[in-house]
Amino acid sequence: MVSKNLGTMLPKMKTAAPGPKSKKVCKQLEKYESPSSSFIKAGKIPVIWREGKGANIEDVDGNVYVDLTSGFCVAGIGHCNPKVVEAIQKQAGILLHSQGILNPNEPRAELVKKIAEITPKGLNKTILVNTGAEAVELAMKTARVYNQRSTVMAFQGGFHGKTYGALAVTARRQYRAAFEPIGLPRVHAPYPYCYRCPFDKEASTCCNFCAKYLENLLDNDSSGVSDISAIILELIQGHDGWIVPPKEFVKKLREICTKRKILLIADEIITGFGRTGEWFASNYFGIVPDIMIVAKGIAGGFPISAVIGKNEIMDAWGPAMHSSTFLGNPVGTAACLAAIKEIESQKYVEVSRKKGAEIKKLLYKLQEKHPIIGDVRGVGMMMGVELVKDRITKVPATKETAEIVKMMQSQGVIVNQGGTSGNVLKMSPPFVITPAQIKVAFQILDDCISKVTKKK
Ligand SMILES: Cc1ncc(COP(=O)(O)O)c(C=O)c1O
Repeated sequence: MVSKNLGTMLPKMKTAAPGPKSKKVCKQLEKYESPSSSFIKAGKIPVIWREGKGANIEDVDGNVYVDLTSGFCVAGIGHCNPKVVEAIQKQAGILLHSQGILNPNEPRAELVKKIAEITPKGLNKTILVNTGAEAVELAMKTARVYNQRSTVMAFQGGFHGKTYGALAVTARRQYRAAFEPIGLPRVHAPYPYCYRCPFDKEASTCCNFCAKYLENLLDNDSSGVSDISAIILELIQGHDGWIVPPKEFVKKLREICTKRKILLIADEIITGFGRTGEWFASNYFGIVPDIMIVAKGIAGGFPISAVIGKNEIMDAWGPAMHSSTFLGNPVGTAACLAAIKEIESQKYVEVSRKKGAEIKKLLYKLQEKHPIIGDVRGVGMMMGVELVKDRITKVPATKETAEIVKMMQSQGVIVNQGGTSGNVLKMSPPFVITPAQIKVAFQILDDCISKVTKKK
């Protein structure tokens, strides 16, 4: 039974989190599902979600949470957005599947046209696939088909998914170790994580050192780097802690690529569809990538992703050279169309900019109060709060971060723990979150930080 007002409710806990029903479901998962698919084997019992609406999640024990994550930036337009659900239900009753490359469908044709309209000027042709990692692989294949070079440059701290090809450019050792050597030729360059500068410089005086370093890698004949087809990056690094690079870096990167005829691939899987207070992070940084990858927020929860590129690049593909059974699935494309319409009609891009700025103010206030908050960063409605044991040494407060996330969950607020050292509170609330929900959720955050830091 859906709780009355689910969507705009404040946190309401009936049991501990996870409660007895969550634990029961976990037992079944533990028995029949591979440990690869959850943290259960690591001893972390998850809460089992049952219903989602607006900014609320209700679990199987009847506990109601305010979700400050939009479920990994997917449900910006709210969980189970009614317009998207309606479009899915309607399309499912008409045509559930059409044969990927053989028999396209009408919503697919409508969607690729719409994507060309909303993405930065010049990105006009799309390939639709199913997941983020699949789209990442497809973007890299596209670059190779276009310029026939072999190597992809990525960034330290970058996350691009965990299928084999995507893993090649994902940086985290923890995910890569069991699969090395990973076939695809790639190089990882330092990313401008200015709070923890890889070159130990100050952001205000470094003069774009990361870009200079990159130029040296590309131009120095003895750098060990050659045959670069594309540079792929998250314009704002999500997995490693909502790291926002300086605009000058991104602009310079655009120039670096253009000058050397290297394709710039923007992985906007997290940053797309209003999350940054612009349609895309590319708009925020004022660049047009050669290829853009989107997923997550594109359909409010339906698994679908897209690779969008400039005409001459996308046209390098031969007929049906890339296929997938569910490519351009009619239900997924209908969901995307409804989600995009919602973002437009409800002006969620502006909402994200405004609400994001308000939330950032709250976070800066908390930073004044709590010495454990080393850095507050983010754009639009993606905010990262990096916790440190000491503001001078910046030693990551990883254990405290985990405790705060757990304590917040027990009080009905969902935030994610992330960052290179697991010391970043990652927040990306749904655009539909209400002022009352914001107020209470951030009071709970304040309270949890106080409790965890006093305990020490
Ligand atoms: C920036 C980025 N790229 C790629 C991916 C992989 O997407 P998926 O999990 O849908 O394969 C993710 C997922 O979190 C992501 O954040």
